[in-house]
Amino acid sequence: MGKAFDRFVALADSAMVVVTVAVGDKRDGCLVGFHSQASIAPPGYAVWLSTANRTRVLAQQATHLGVHLLGEHQHDLAELFGGQTGDEVDKLIGVRWAPGHGGAPMLLDCPNRFVGRAQVLAVPDRADHVCVLLAPESAGASEPFAPLRLHHAVDIDPGHPA
Ligand SMILES: Cc1cc2nc3c(=O)[nH]c(=O)nc-3n(C[C@H](O)[C@H](O)[C@H](O)COP(=O)(O)O)c2cc1C
Repeated sequence: MGKAFDRFVALADSAMVVVTVAVGDKRDGCLVGFHSQASIAPPGYAVWLSTANRTRVLAQQATHLGVHLLGEHQHDLAELFGGQTGDEVDKLIGVRWAPGHGGAPMLLDCPNRFVGRAQVLAVPDRADHVCVLLAPESAGASEPFAPLRLHHAVDIDPGHPA
């Protein structure tokens, strides 16, 4: 079962996003492959954050999260947000960002993005990720665009093991 499931996930080849958060003067963001639209009317979007991640700790105190699609040439941002942890470095230093709607950090080099009001859902038994349901309140889009996908990012060692 395990190998076939891994293959299923690889074939789905999820687009990579960076989820950002700020609480007071604390801020962070991490690379996320677990995300999907979750409701049509009203619109809803779910992101899944590892219980090990500092972004998850801050998300549980935040009102809003930012969600940014990475372009296929933005492997450097994937490496920064997926390979480093905010427990050790401030990832926002060295990237172009500004506070956005609800205070969520906006990555200025990632114009395909939205901000959602965040509600952390109950953690399923034994799950190592929590689901954060987002109600989109502000969004931006630019074309043409080709996303960075899972197969582009599998070389990155996560800053926190799941
Ligand atoms: C390809 C890839 C996909 C990832 N997907 C997720 C994900 O869906 N959810 C998550 O919380 N972390 C995911 N991570 C791990 C975090 O991005 C990583 O552990 C990060 O360093 C955590 O940073 P933080 O402690 O500052 O939040 C992924 C990492 C990689 C390399």
